[in-house]
Amino acid sequence: MIPITDSRIESYLMHMIPEDDPHLAAMEEKAEESGLPIVGRLVGRFLYLLTRLRQPALVVELGSGFGYSAYWFARALSVRGKVVLTDYSEKNVAYARQVFTESGFSGRGEFRVGDALQIGREYNDIDLLFIDIDKYQYPEAIRVMWPRLAPNALVIADNALWHGKVAEEGTQDRETEGIRQFNEFMFSHDDFFSSIIPLRDGVLLAYKFN
Ligand SMILES: C[S@@+](CC[C@H](N)C(=O)[O-])C[C@H]1O[C@@H](n2cnc3c(N)ncnc32)[C@H](O)[C@@H]1O
Repeated sequence: MIPITDSRIESYLMHMIPEDDPHLAAMEEKAEESGLPIVGRLVGRFLYLLTRLRQPALVVELGSGFGYSAYWFARALSVRGKVVLTDYSEKNVAYARQVFTESGFSGRGEFRVGDALQIGREYNDIDLLFIDIDKYQYPEAIRVMWPRLAPNALVIADNALWHGKVAEEGTQDRETEGIRQFNEFMFSHDDFFSSIIPLRDGVLLAYKFN
Protein backbone atom coordinates (compact mmCIF):
# COMPACT_ATOMS: atom_id res chain seq x y z
CA MET A 1 0.00 0.00 0.00
CA ILE A 2 1.14 3.53 -0.72
CA PRO A 3 0.98 5.70 2.43
CA ILE A 4 -1.15 8.82 2.03
CA THR A 5 0.17 10.75 5.01
CA ASP A 6 3.08 10.03 7.29
CA SER A 7 1.74 8.83 10.67
CA ARG A 8 3.82 11.55 12.38
CA ILE A 9 1.88 14.21 10.48
CA GLU A 10 -1.44 12.62 11.55
CA SER A 11 -0.26 12.53 15.18
CA TYR A 12 0.83 16.15 14.97
CA LEU A 13 -2.60 17.18 13.63
CA MET A 14 -4.48 15.06 16.18
CA HIS A 15 -2.58 16.62 19.05
CA MET A 16 -3.90 20.04 18.16
CA ILE A 17 -7.53 18.97 18.35
CA PRO A 18 -9.24 19.74 21.65
CA GLU A 19 -11.14 16.87 23.33
CA ASP A 20 -14.33 18.73 24.00
CA ASP A 21 -17.37 16.60 23.19
CA PRO A 22 -18.39 13.49 25.15
CA HIS A 23 -20.65 12.23 22.32
CA LEU A 24 -17.75 12.22 19.88
CA ALA A 25 -15.54 10.43 22.38
CA ALA A 26 -18.24 7.77 22.99
CA MET A 27 -18.72 7.17 19.26
CA GLU A 28 -14.98 6.95 18.68
CA GLU A 29 -14.79 4.31 21.40
CA LYS A 30 -17.72 2.44 19.83
CA ALA A 31 -15.96 2.51 16.44
CA GLU A 32 -12.82 1.06 18.05
CA GLU A 33 -14.82 -1.74 19.68
CA SER A 34 -17.08 -2.56 16.73
CA GLY A 35 -14.53 -2.11 13.93
CA LEU A 36 -16.94 0.09 11.95
CA PRO A 37 -14.84 2.63 10.04
CA ILE A 38 -15.69 6.26 10.79
CA VAL A 39 -14.25 9.43 9.29
CA GLY A 40 -12.44 10.32 12.52
CA ARG A 41 -11.67 13.73 13.97
CA LEU A 42 -9.48 15.15 11.24
CA VAL A 43 -12.09 14.59 8.53
CA GLY A 44 -14.93 15.34 10.96
CA ARG A 45 -13.55 18.81 11.55
CA PHE A 46 -13.19 19.32 7.81
CA LEU A 47 -16.88 18.36 7.34
CA TYR A 48 -17.81 20.80 10.08
CA LEU A 49 -15.86 23.59 8.43
CA LEU A 50 -17.37 23.01 4.98
CA THR A 51 -20.86 22.90 6.49
CA ARG A 52 -20.30 26.20 8.27
CA LEU A 53 -19.03 27.79 5.07
CA ARG A 54 -21.78 26.46 2.81
CA GLN A 55 -24.67 26.66 5.34
CA PRO A 56 -26.71 23.91 3.62
CA ALA A 57 -30.44 23.54 4.17
CA LEU A 58 -30.27 19.87 3.13
CA VAL A 59 -27.40 17.45 3.67
CA VAL A 60 -27.85 13.89 2.41
CA GLU A 61 -25.41 11.35 3.73
CA LEU A 62 -25.06 7.99 1.95
CA GLY A 63 -23.66 5.55 4.52
CA SER A 64 -24.05 6.90 8.06
CA GLY A 65 -23.02 3.92 10.18
CA PHE A 66 -24.01 4.89 13.73
CA GLY A 67 -23.97 8.62 13.02
CA TYR A 68 -20.44 9.88 13.71
CA SER A 69 -19.98 11.89 10.50
CA ALA A 70 -23.66 12.97 10.59
CA TYR A 71 -23.08 14.31 14.09
CA TRP A 72 -20.31 16.57 12.75
CA PHE A 73 -22.73 17.87 10.13
CA ALA A 74 -25.47 18.38 12.74
CA ARG A 75 -23.18 20.39 15.01
CA ALA A 76 -22.37 22.77 12.16
CA LEU A 77 -25.85 23.18 10.66
CA SER A 78 -27.90 26.30 11.20
CA VAL A 79 -31.38 25.98 12.73
CA ARG A 80 -32.97 25.67 9.27
CA GLY A 81 -30.63 22.87 8.20
CA LYS A 82 -31.06 19.10 8.39
CA VAL A 83 -29.02 16.02 7.65
CA VAL A 84 -30.58 12.85 6.25
CA LEU A 85 -28.85 9.77 7.64
CA THR A 86 -29.02 6.50 5.69
CA ASP A 87 -27.78 3.05 6.55
CA TYR A 88 -28.69 -0.60 6.05
CA SER A 89 -28.40 -1.22 9.79
CA GLU A 90 -31.49 -0.47 11.85
CA LYS A 91 -29.46 -0.82 15.03
CA ASN A 92 -26.86 1.72 13.93
CA VAL A 93 -29.47 4.23 12.80
CA ALA A 94 -31.27 3.85 16.16
CA TYR A 95 -27.99 4.55 17.94
CA ALA A 96 -27.49 7.68 15.82
CA ARG A 97 -30.98 8.86 16.67
CA GLN A 98 -30.21 8.41 20.37
CA VAL A 99 -26.99 10.45 20.11
CA PHE A 100 -28.82 13.23 18.26
CA THR A 101 -31.56 13.23 20.92
CA GLU A 102 -29.16 13.28 23.85
CA SER A 103 -27.14 16.10 22.33
CA GLY A 104 -30.20 18.23 21.54
CA PHE A 105 -29.86 17.86 17.75
CA SER A 106 -32.81 15.53 17.05
CA GLY A 107 -34.53 18.29 15.04
CA ARG A 108 -31.54 18.40 12.69
CA GLY A 109 -31.63 14.72 11.72
CA GLU A 110 -33.84 12.53 9.53
CA PHE A 111 -33.09 8.86 10.21
CA ARG A 112 -33.59 6.39 7.36
CA VAL A 113 -32.96 2.65 7.30
CA GLY A 114 -32.42 0.90 3.97
CA ASP A 115 -30.47 1.16 0.75
CA ALA A 116 -28.96 4.64 0.56
CA LEU A 117 -29.15 4.58 -3.23
CA GLN A 118 -32.92 4.08 -3.07
CA ILE A 119 -33.54 6.51 -0.21
CA GLY A 120 -31.36 9.16 -1.89
CA ARG A 121 -33.72 9.20 -4.88
CA GLU A 122 -36.46 10.67 -2.68
CA TYR A 123 -34.59 13.96 -2.18
CA ASN A 124 -34.02 16.94 -4.46
CA ASP A 125 -32.27 20.30 -4.11
CA ILE A 126 -29.52 18.74 -2.02
CA ASP A 127 -26.98 21.34 -0.93
CA LEU A 128 -24.40 18.94 0.38
CA LEU A 129 -24.03 15.28 -0.56
CA PHE A 130 -21.71 13.10 1.49
CA ILE A 131 -20.77 9.66 0.12
CA ASP A 132 -19.38 6.97 2.42
CA ILE A 133 -21.07 3.70 1.35
CA ASP A 134 -19.35 0.58 -0.01
CA LYS A 135 -16.71 1.83 -2.39
CA TYR A 136 -17.81 -0.12 -5.48
CA GLN A 137 -21.13 1.77 -5.26
CA TYR A 138 -19.60 5.26 -5.61
CA PRO A 139 -20.05 5.49 -9.43
CA GLU A 140 -23.70 4.45 -9.09
CA ALA A 141 -24.15 6.87 -6.17
CA ILE A 142 -23.07 9.92 -8.15
CA ARG A 143 -25.03 8.78 -11.24
CA VAL A 144 -28.22 8.59 -9.14
CA MET A 145 -27.63 11.68 -7.02
CA TRP A 146 -26.08 14.18 -9.43
CA PRO A 147 -29.43 15.31 -10.96
CA ARG A 148 -30.76 15.84 -7.44
CA LEU A 149 -28.15 18.38 -6.40
CA ALA A 150 -28.97 22.05 -5.96
CA PRO A 151 -26.97 24.68 -7.87
CA ASN A 152 -23.68 25.40 -6.05
CA ALA A 153 -23.95 22.11 -4.17
CA LEU A 154 -20.96 20.46 -2.57
CA VAL A 155 -20.15 16.79 -3.02
CA ILE A 156 -17.84 15.24 -0.46
CA ALA A 157 -16.67 11.65 -0.68
CA ASP A 158 -14.57 9.82 1.89
CA ASN A 159 -11.84 7.29 1.02
CA ALA A 160 -11.08 8.95 -2.33
CA LEU A 161 -7.50 7.61 -2.21
CA TRP A 162 -8.55 4.22 -0.76
CA HIS A 163 -5.40 3.39 1.22
CA GLY A 164 -3.32 4.48 -1.77
CA LYS A 165 -4.66 1.57 -3.86
CA VAL A 166 -6.02 3.93 -6.54
CA ALA A 167 -2.40 4.63 -7.50
CA GLU A 168 -1.23 0.99 -7.50
CA GLU A 169 -1.06 -0.24 -11.07
CA GLY A 170 -1.72 -3.91 -10.35
CA THR A 171 -4.68 -3.39 -8.03
CA GLN A 172 -8.01 -4.00 -9.73
CA ASP A 173 -10.50 -5.16 -7.09
CA ARG A 174 -14.02 -3.80 -7.41
CA GLU A 175 -13.70 -1.34 -4.50
CA THR A 176 -10.54 0.26 -5.93
CA GLU A 177 -12.04 0.30 -9.42
CA GLY A 178 -15.19 1.91 -8.02
CA ILE A 179 -13.22 4.74 -6.44
CA ARG A 180 -11.12 5.22 -9.59
CA GLN A 181 -14.19 5.46 -11.81
CA PHE A 182 -15.85 7.85 -9.38
CA ASN A 183 -12.79 10.13 -9.17
CA GLU A 184 -12.42 10.16 -12.95
CA PHE A 185 -16.09 11.07 -13.37
CA MET A 186 -15.85 13.89 -10.83
CA PHE A 187 -12.71 15.35 -12.41
CA SER A 188 -13.89 15.10 -16.03
CA HIS A 189 -17.49 16.24 -15.69
CA ASP A 190 -18.14 19.82 -16.83
CA ASP A 191 -20.63 20.47 -14.02
CA PHE A 192 -18.11 19.78 -11.26
CA PHE A 193 -14.89 21.35 -10.07
CA SER A 194 -13.14 18.71 -7.95
CA SER A 195 -10.15 18.35 -5.72
CA ILE A 196 -8.86 15.56 -3.48
CA ILE A 197 -7.47 16.51 -0.10
CA PRO A 198 -4.95 13.93 1.14
CA LEU A 199 -6.40 13.97 4.64
CA ARG A 200 -6.53 10.54 6.34
CA ASP A 201 -7.76 8.26 3.47
CA GLY A 202 -8.36 11.10 0.99
CA VAL A 203 -11.44 13.31 0.82
CA LEU A 204 -12.87 14.33 -2.55
CA LEU A 205 -14.48 17.75 -2.51
CA ALA A 206 -16.41 19.00 -5.51
CA TYR A 207 -18.37 22.12 -6.30
CA LYS A 208 -21.32 21.87 -8.69
CA PHE A 209 -21.53 24.87 -11.01
CA ASN A 210 -25.24 24.83 -11.82
C1 LIG B 1 -17.77 3.63 6.41
S1 LIG B 1 -19.28 3.30 7.20
C2 LIG B 1 -19.97 4.90 7.42
C3 LIG B 1 -19.32 5.69 8.47
C4 LIG B 1 -19.91 7.06 8.69
N1 LIG B 1 -20.00 7.83 7.49
C5 LIG B 1 -19.04 7.81 9.69
O1 LIG B 1 -17.98 8.29 9.31
O2 LIG B 1 -19.46 7.89 10.85
C6 LIG B 1 -20.23 2.72 5.83
C7 LIG B 1 -21.66 2.38 6.21
O3 LIG B 1 -22.41 2.34 5.02
C8 LIG B 1 -23.35 1.30 5.10
N2 LIG B 1 -23.69 0.99 3.69
C9 LIG B 1 -22.87 0.59 2.69
N3 LIG B 1 -23.53 0.56 1.52
C10 LIG B 1 -24.80 0.98 1.81
C11 LIG B 1 -25.97 1.19 1.03
N4 LIG B 1 -26.01 0.98 -0.29
N5 LIG B 1 -27.08 1.62 1.66
C12 LIG B 1 -27.10 1.84 2.99
N6 LIG B 1 -26.02 1.68 3.78
C13 LIG B 1 -24.89 1.25 3.18
C14 LIG B 1 -22.68 0.21 5.90
O4 LIG B 1 -23.67 -0.54 6.55
C15 LIG B 1 -21.83 1.02 6.88
O5 LIG B 1 -22.52 1.22 8.08
